[in-house]
Amino acid sequence: MKPMNIKIEQRKRVAIITLDRPKALNALNTALMQEMVSVMQKLDKDPEVGCFVITGSEKAFAAGADIKEMKDKSYLDMFHEDYFAGWEAFTSIRTPKIAAVSGYALGGGCELAMMCDIIYASTTAKFGQPEIKLGVIPGIGGTQRLTKMVGKTKAMDLILTGRLMNAEEAERSGLVSRVIPSNKLIEESLQAAELIASYSKTTVMIAKEAVDRATELSLREGVLYERRVFHALFATEHQKEGMQAFVEKRTPDFSKS
Ligand code: HXC
Repeated sequence: MKPMNIKIEQRKRVAIITLDRPKALNALNTALMQEMVSVMQKLDKDPEVGCFVITGSEKAFAAGADIKEMKDKSYLDMFHEDYFAGWEAFTSIRTPKIAAVSGYALGGGCELAMMCDIIYASTTAKFGQPEIKLGVIPGIGGTQRLTKMVGKTKAMDLILTGRLMNAEEAERSGLVSRVIPSNKLIEESLQAAELIASYSKTTVMIAKEAVDRATELSLREGVLYERRVFHALFATEHQKEGMQAFVEKRTPDFSKS
C-alpha cells in the first residue's frame, strides 16, 4: 500500500524519507510509524541502499507524538497496544540513519532524531522534550537517550522545564553533530550520506554496531567486542579490496559483496 504520511525518494545509494503530515507539523501517529518502519525494513535489506536521510519540513522535523491520537487512551489501551513499542523496530534498522532537522523537533520528534545515528541541524532547529507540560514524560526513549547524549544536568533541565534548545546549544551539548544553514541542510546531509553509502555496506553496518555498543557495554567489553569484529572483517572481500586499493594507489571498489 502506498504510504500516506511519508515520502520516499532514492538519490544514488541514499534513501530519503520525508515526514509528510504538514497540517499536524509531522506529529508521529501510529500510521506514520508503521509506514516508516515497513519501508525502511525493506530498504535495510537492499544492497543498493547504503544510508538513510530522515527529514521533515522547514517548520517542523516533527512536533512530537500525535497528542490527538493518544489523548483519550486509557492506561489499559496504552499497555495492551504497547504504544510506541513499534519504534523499537526503527532502532533495529542496521543501515545508518541521518536525521536532517529543520524547525521543531519536540517530544517524539526529538526522540526520533535521537534514534538516528547522526543528527544534522539547520540553524532554525529547535529541540525539546516538552511532555511535562502535557502531564506526561518522554515515552520513546527521551529520558534515556537524551541523558546519555547530553548528560544528566542538561537532560534534567530540558525534561523538567520543557524548554526548547536552539541548534547552537544542541551542538554545544553534543546532541547535534553539525549546524548547517537551512538552505544547505538537505544538500550537506545528502553529501555525507552519499559518502557513507559509497563505502562497504557490510563494514559500515559493523562500524555502526560497534559504536552503538559503546553506550551499553563496559569499556573493557566494548573494546573486546570491537577487536573481535575488527578481526572478522578480515574474512571479507571488502577488507582485501580496501587495503589492496590503498597499496595500488587507486579508489577501492566496494560494489562487489
Ligand atoms: C498532534 C499537533 C502536534 C502534536 C502540533 N500539532 N503538534 N497535533 N500532536 N504533537 C498540530 C496542532 O494541533 C495544529 O493543528 C497544527 O499542528 C499546527 O500547530 P500550531 O500549534 O497551530 O502551530 P504553532 O502555533 O506554530 O506552534 C508550533 C508548536 C506547537 C510550538 C510546535 O504546535 C506545539 O507546542 N505542539 C506540541 C508539541 C509537544 O508538546 N510535543 C510533545 C508531544 S508528546 P490544528 O488542527 O489546530 O490546526 C510526545 C511524547 C509523548 O511527543 C510521550 C508520552 C506518552
